[in-house]
Amino acid sequence: MINKIHSLGGYIHEYQKSVANPQAFWAQQGESFFWRKRWDKVVDWNFDEPKIQWYVNGKLNITENIFERNLYTHGSQEAIIWEPNNPDEESRTLTYSELFVEVNKFANTLRRLGVGKGDRVAIYMPMVPELAIALLACARIGAIHSVVFAGFSANALKERINDAAAKVLLTADGGFRGDKITPLKQIADEALTNCSSIETVVVLKRTKSDIEMVVGRDIWWHKAVDGQSEVCPAEEMDSEDPLFILYTSGSTGKPKGIVHTTGGYMVYSGYTFSNVFQYHAGDVYFCTADIGWITGHTYIVYGPLLAGAKTLMFEGVPTWPDAGRFWDIVSKYQVNQFYTAPTAIRALLAKGNEFVEGKKLSSLKVLGTVGEPINEEAWHWYHDHVGRNQCPIVDTWWQTETGGVMVSPIAGITPTKPSFATLPLPGVQPVIVSNEGKELTGNSVEGNLCIKYPWPGMARTIWGDHERFRQTYFSSYSKMYFTGDGVKRDEDGYYRILGRVDDVINVSGHRLGTAEIENAINEHPLVNESAVVGYPHAIKGQGIYAFVACGELSTGGEDGIRKSIMQGVTKIIGPIARPDLVQLVPGLPKTRSGKIMRRILRKVAEGDATNLGDISTLLDEDVVEQIIDGALVDV
Ligand code: WTA
Repeated sequence: MINKIHSLGGYIHEYQKSVANPQAFWAQQGESFFWRKRWDKVVDWNFDEPKIQWYVNGKLNITENIFERNLYTHGSQEAIIWEPNNPDEESRTLTYSELFVEVNKFANTLRRLGVGKGDRVAIYMPMVPELAIALLACARIGAIHSVVFAGFSANALKERINDAAAKVLLTADGGFRGDKITPLKQIADEALTNCSSIETVVVLKRTKSDIEMVVGRDIWWHKAVDGQSEVCPAEEMDSEDPLFILYTSGSTGKPKGIVHTTGGYMVYSGYTFSNVFQYHAGDVYFCTADIGWITGHTYIVYGPLLAGAKTLMFEGVPTWPDAGRFWDIVSKYQVNQFYTAPTAIRALLAKGNEFVEGKKLSSLKVLGTVGEPINEEAWHWYHDHVGRNQCPIVDTWWQTETGGVMVSPIAGITPTKPSFATLPLPGVQPVIVSNEGKELTGNSVEGNLCIKYPWPGMARTIWGDHERFRQTYFSSYSKMYFTGDGVKRDEDGYYRILGRVDDVINVSGHRLGTAEIENAINEHPLVNESAVVGYPHAIKGQGIYAFVACGELSTGGEDGIRKSIMQGVTKIIGPIARPDLVQLVPGLPKTRSGKIMRRILRKVAEGDATNLGDISTLLDEDVVEQIIDGALVDV
């Protein structure tokens, strides 16, 4: 049983304990899990190299903690409840015992394909139970999974496969999303024209789309699994053996392969899930994220299953067949905890209350949000219309790199405040640092959010590039992990996340690097250079505004070029990175030393060109005036 907090006093007590003696605190949390061999030391760390090790020399397998540990008590209870894209298609449920069998069979399949401990398995799949089975099967045999969100392009998939040098790719013939089908296999085939590490592609039949199977490389999932043994001994893993890689965007260059390891991630995902959502045995928990993102890894798969919970997986989209779909699912399965993103809330709010009113939502006990700051209007709508004024909202702040929730209310225990992530979870030591690197103590302060002590769920490195890991997170401020977020601590000591302070933008809760989008735009033959910034967007939170300097505008006129730039980005990264606005400009505002003055572009995109700040280093003021004149938002 994972230790649970039951009261505000309990939270304060645990928090104090966790700061006074982090090792004792995390040792106690570690005790709730099954280890083949106990750790020698709870934590060994420094933020200079950086080196972060938790539960040092502990031996375990995370799937033994999901299955063997839970089977006696939970064997016949649902583990995964799956709701298909089409409400008329039959749903599926897998009990813990049934899931265990599927995981073992698929783990044996992978072993037969020559996959062993430490090998990378790339996964490019729709939201079907086999996706969760794939993750757990990898974990069972010690293979490192690298899930690539099924909305990414062939090019993005290729980059990720190559960076991790994955041996096997798991995909499907296609994926249903609303009234569309994503041709996953076709996209994968395109990616694989340039991926020499892939030996085998396992293809799940889902949409029954017409696809080509490459002889000697591709096999059908059902055929590969057929006849495999239902028993698969778990690989013994060291605490610090990698469990998975998940790529995320940074402010510069190509996506980073964030590496999470086994022991610490297990303890952190289990502990935070049980506590933040206050999950009780028998509850039905529904997280609407996609497993292609960290939220799905930690809070659809690992956290809930470690806690022996019933986790609901939904294949489709919130607005199909109509904007009441989430609420139909909540009512169909009597969902108790519901976890989604502000962008979804805003999109549903905009469709009107008729889709939520009259739905049977009385089972709901806890509402959660994640991915971006939630504005007050969305918070209140969520609270009043979905939660009927009766459900606490847990506004959970965290990141791909943190592995699990860091700052958040504990449901029903921490008093909430709209748009505030409130207080750090036990074991988390946030600090606010000025741009000059000075820690700002006390309340009513605002600055950069850093964490000064490690926690078990934190990333250990960037795959293949530890120096980049150090540089990105541990070089801005000495001896601290820098999150990239701005934050305010109010007069009550509550944290409000203000958004990214670097060149990362958060579009519909998806993290994108501006440099990544610029690189894609710059591949267009007519483009000389470009600069991308975020701008306030009513539904997406942030929209993508691209300022693009072209040479000759010959073919197709301005509209044609704009359109082809947008299409280019969709092709190179995926639809999520497609700019909302493309402004063709005569040049970009630069300093005398040639640096693009993004600050000015951000101001224009925000529709506020009245106060551009210090422009004394600007090379050419005319360019700025022309940009303001041609702005695609009101300035
Ligand atoms: C943002 C998602 C405000 C933040 C789990 C962070 C949030 C980035 C919140 C990480 C929140 C996440 N309030 N902002 N509750 N949760 N963010 O890696 O900017 O996809 O740095 O992880 O999302 O995004 P990622």
